[in-house]
Amino acid sequence: MTDAASSYSTLRWDNGRLLLLDQTALPDEERMIECRSYRDVADAIRTMKIRGAPAIGVAGAYGLALGAREIAARDREEFTRQLRAIASALLQTRPTAVNLRWALERALTVLDRFPSATVDALRDRLLDEAHAIAHEDVATNRAIGEHGASLMAPGERVLTYCNTGSLATVDYGTALGIIRTAHERGKRPLVYVCETRPYLQGARLTSWELLRYGIPGSLITDNAAGYFMSRGQVDRIIVGADRIAANGDVANKIGTYSLAVLARAHEIPFIVAAPLSTVDFRTPDGTAIPIEERRPEEVTHLAGVRVAPERMPALNPAFDVTPNHLVTAIVTDAGIAYPPFSHSLADLAKVPLGGAGDRRVAR
Ligand code: MRU
Repeated sequence: MTDAASSYSTLRWDNGRLLLLDQTALPDEERMIECRSYRDVADAIRTMKIRGAPAIGVAGAYGLALGAREIAARDREEFTRQLRAIASALLQTRPTAVNLRWALERALTVLDRFPSATVDALRDRLLDEAHAIAHEDVATNRAIGEHGASLMAPGERVLTYCNTGSLATVDYGTALGIIRTAHERGKRPLVYVCETRPYLQGARLTSWELLRYGIPGSLITDNAAGYFMSRGQVDRIIVGADRIAANGDVANKIGTYSLAVLARAHEIPFIVAAPLSTVDFRTPDGTAIPIEERRPEEVTHLAGVRVAPERMPALNPAFDVTPNHLVTAIVTDAGIAYPPFSHSLADLAKVPLGGAGDRRVAR
């Protein structure tokens, strides 16, 4: 991976390479990096140069397209075998966000859809599919924004968590997309941005986005959220999701669960925003969602500076699960789901109750 010319977009395909805005350098530096191989993409996802469930799904699809170009085999069977191994390597980078699996599986459908295509043609189809997934992501987010903003009254004070904006998607965002739509519709939302320890997606990334869009907001520490709720200063909480189980249990950034409990205690609506591709109908409930454990150094250090005594062990689960009974509504691109979610989500996705298709990428 090397540096490339700077101009802001979360990710874009450019002449045989994938350009990514390096999110580890924000907010101080807007630096694009280039990925020329699937290993570059896998590394960028693993090290969170790109992050956010929809964005890593799209990056994964482009990674597969890059990988297809790296396979020397001309024989379709051997090409397919190696392509599946690359998909599996990409899938292993981050386990919780199901959008990565969803995008890789969708890209692999070209193998079934073009049974007599040559290896060269398959390479082109894989790139077309990655472009299609990227393109659709923006329309999906716009739809989430419209549905979600319809819930909001003028002047609402909204608390959000982590980063769910343009940086977490191809463009526009999910939970932050709702806030953006409300702002664009003149509803004058006021945003509380939780800093989101340990990786500080709120402080570093959501703050950076809000300033760009001119949306008024304040950064607060994560542990100040209850204080503002108790004073009646929060009207709504809107968060994103990395995986939503078939019953509506929601895996999202660590700390989301605590916010949901606080929201219930203060009778504040707790809204989850996500594309339907984040709903995993193969996972019946939250107990089956794999939770990523990241390096202890993200906890013992702040912006690279050690804040805990040397040798102090630390635990660093990157996500938690909010049980469905704490969720007021799930806003998707297809509409808004209300409890009981096992029915409303299946209805929106038009899948039979209790399951979905079974096309899998081997882990
Ligand atoms: O670890 P991250 O930064 O990838 O976690 C991101 C989140 O938890 C987001 O809330 C989620 O992916 C939704 S992004 C639209």
